Amino acid sequence: MTGQGLAQVDGARHAAILGIGSYRPSRVIPNAEVVDAIDSSDEWIQQRSGIRQRRWATPEETVQMMAVAASRTAIERAGIDPKQIECVIVATVTHMYQTPAIATAIAHELGTDQAAAFDISAACAGFCHGIAMAADLVRGGSAGHALVIGVERLSDLTDVGDRGTAFIFADGAGAAVVGPSDTPGIGPVVWGSDGEQFDLIRQREDWRDVIASEQPVMPHLVMQGNAVFRWASYQMAKTGQQALDRAGITIDDLDVFVPHQANMRITDAMARAMKMPERVKIARDIAEQGNTSAASIPLALDRMIEEGDARSGDKALLIAFGAGLAYAAQVVIVP
Ligand SMILES: CC(C)(COP(=O)(O)OP(=O)(O)OC[C@H]1O[C@@H](n2cnc3c(N)ncnc32)[C@H](O)[C@@H]1OP(=O)(O)O)[C@@H](O)C(=O)NCCC(=O)NCCS
Repeated sequence: MTGQGLAQVDGARHAAILGIGSYRPSRVIPNAEVVDAIDSSDEWIQQRSGIRQRRWATPEETVQMMAVAASRTAIERAGIDPKQIECVIVATVTHMYQTPAIATAIAHELGTDQAAAFDISAACAGFCHGIAMAADLVRGGSAGHALVIGVERLSDLTDVGDRGTAFIFADGAGAAVVGPSDTPGIGPVVWGSDGEQFDLIRQREDWRDVIASEQPVMPHLVMQGNAVFRWASYQMAKTGQQALDRAGITIDDLDVFVPHQANMRITDAMARAMKMPERVKIARDIAEQGNTSAASIPLALDRMIEEGDARSGDKALLIAFGAGLAYAAQVVIVP
């Protein structure tokens, strides 16, 4: 490179979440409806996972429909015009087309002005990956505002006869508008992966094997629950502590804890390991909603805002983890 190199754009000094929205599918499925197929009981499911019921989407509640509904609320709460959104990031593993990304259709339906739009595949960690990317896009000048969506229809990929997953997975969408801010509203991300454990949570077989089989069925998600449980409970508490350190705060400064809603016992184990003070409000959306993968953190945070457990200006620790294994955590200021 000779001379002075290339012209650069300036971004915002700081980025923050400006608005959050969510969409819960209309079908409420109590434990009683799933127990027979897996020879289980309401008591066992509640004790082992904290789940009382989950939401499953109707055929009309598509990935796109749920994502658009959550996004409209987030955009309205952010007080911006959809045309101000210059990038749409959709975290999902349940958009059933290999290509194109669902993000372009969502951006179009929302009425953005041909925003950049793409999907990311980081499973349950997807939303926090998206928030990290959006914050850097806004600060780096690549997007004035970015929309991050976590959306799943995991019921499509769930084997209702599988004892290890049938009672856990659920559907829904959450969205956040990230934009410029006078003060830092999104702390540095702590993220990573452990591909040695690639097989712990995964689609059972690839699409070519499904098509080649004599009686093709959906390639359901399978999980080694015990191993995931151990990894998440111990490793993710460390990741959470690193996110606090990188944001320059201590656990005593924290107001709200929103871990991925995987299992209530994992949430409790992380809170114990991090010595979380009792006054910190902890997201427990899984009890009513089930595990919605990339959608679980915005769904849980939105519920806390609506119920007054998270207030504007609060410091919230987000920790997302899942298949890959992939994880990401950051502290954010509640909008
Ligand atoms: C799935 C999970 C709830 C299973 O709980 P667990 O305590 O690990 O259960 P185990 O597989 O060790 O089985 C314990 C016992 O319950 C039984 N069991 C397993 N699934 C059951 C079910 N759905 N209903 C009733 N009993 C069940 C087993 O047969 C076993 O019985 P045994 O002691 O007589 O042999 C738990 O492993 C978990 O939540 N893991 C993390 C999953 C997760 O969060 N995934 C998402 C990450 S993104």
